[in-house]
Amino acid sequence: MPLQQFNTPGFADDLPADLKDKWGKLISSWIEKEGYAKQSPDSYREPAPTSETEKSDFLKNGSFLVFRRLKQDVATFNAYTKTMFQQLTDTPDFQGEDYETFLAKIVGRFKDGKPVLFGDQVVPPENYNNFNFNADTPAFRLHNGKQVASVKADQPGIKCPAFAHIRKVNPRDLPTDLGKETDSATFRIIRRGIPFGKPYDFDNLDNPVNETERGLLFLSYQTSIERQFERLTQKWMNEPSRPVAMGYDMLVGQNGEEDENGIKWCKFMNDNRKTKEVKSEKTFVIPTGGGYFLCPSVSALRELIG
Ligand code: HEM
Repeated sequence: MPLQQFNTPGFADDLPADLKDKWGKLISSWIEKEGYAKQSPDSYREPAPTSETEKSDFLKNGSFLVFRRLKQDVATFNAYTKTMFQQLTDTPDFQGEDYETFLAKIVGRFKDGKPVLFGDQVVPPENYNNFNFNADTPAFRLHNGKQVASVKADQPGIKCPAFAHIRKVNPRDLPTDLGKETDSATFRIIRRGIPFGKPYDFDNLDNPVNETERGLLFLSYQTSIERQFERLTQKWMNEPSRPVAMGYDMLVGQNGEEDENGIKWCKFMNDNRKTKEVKSEKTFVIPTGGGYFLCPSVSALRELIG
């Protein structure tokens, strides 16, 4: 069942994967390569099994689940994105930028889920996942006859910045510091975010509800927690120089360096490829709990109970 939710800063989360024709194909090739659904003792695993016992059939067809309780500080996000917007638009090169587009660039999508790469184009929601960053995406036709429009790539990150959340956690067809372009799909996770707490009242900032806790219960399935979830979070969201040196994931990322006071930065790029760095010393997402779990396959569970 497609589940469209609005997480607390007001951005659509967990967009329904409507483009099954296209993404279904991509996911299948990834499954074959990484052994997601057909995991076997000989499939790729990290760390590699060191003994025959570790190579047991128990993991076959199983997956790993990550759970994180992520508290969101919406008031701080609101206040500090305004400060960052001010820093950006104080520069003559970026004076035309509007606040909604600025916010969308931090996420990589507008509030309704439309990718920021599409700019002002009116695009039906079934096109919302049909884009790449490195190469133009050709038009194609769905089973039901609907035409899905072509999309221009944005390798330098002018429309969708290299630090945008969705670009950090899914570089799609871009080559990265961790591999060539065809490797990028192998870091993908299957994910669901469930909001908790009461929505923030943007119309009445004094509403006592704004003092209560809210955030996202984040869940993801993957073959390897180390190679997928941990790389996305530690190596890309929280690393300003990776995959490219254009900054932190300003929505979810954190700067954990002891002597840097938590300051995060990112670089916006305009049409003339002029860049401007903006900074914030605040963290908007705070992990408050979670765990790593093994989800064995039904056949493994049957084996266990005899
Ligand atoms: C409270 C924290 C978070 C917020 C507010 C958040 C918000 C969002 C939003 C608004 C989107 C775009 C809509 C969508 O595709 O559903 C998105 C996409 C995504 N997020 Fe997060 N996210 C959070 C944490 C995380 C974490 C910890 C990860 C782990 C790596 C993650 C991975 C992803 C992925 C893989 C996508 C899809 C990217 C794509 O469409 O190509 N997110 N997130």
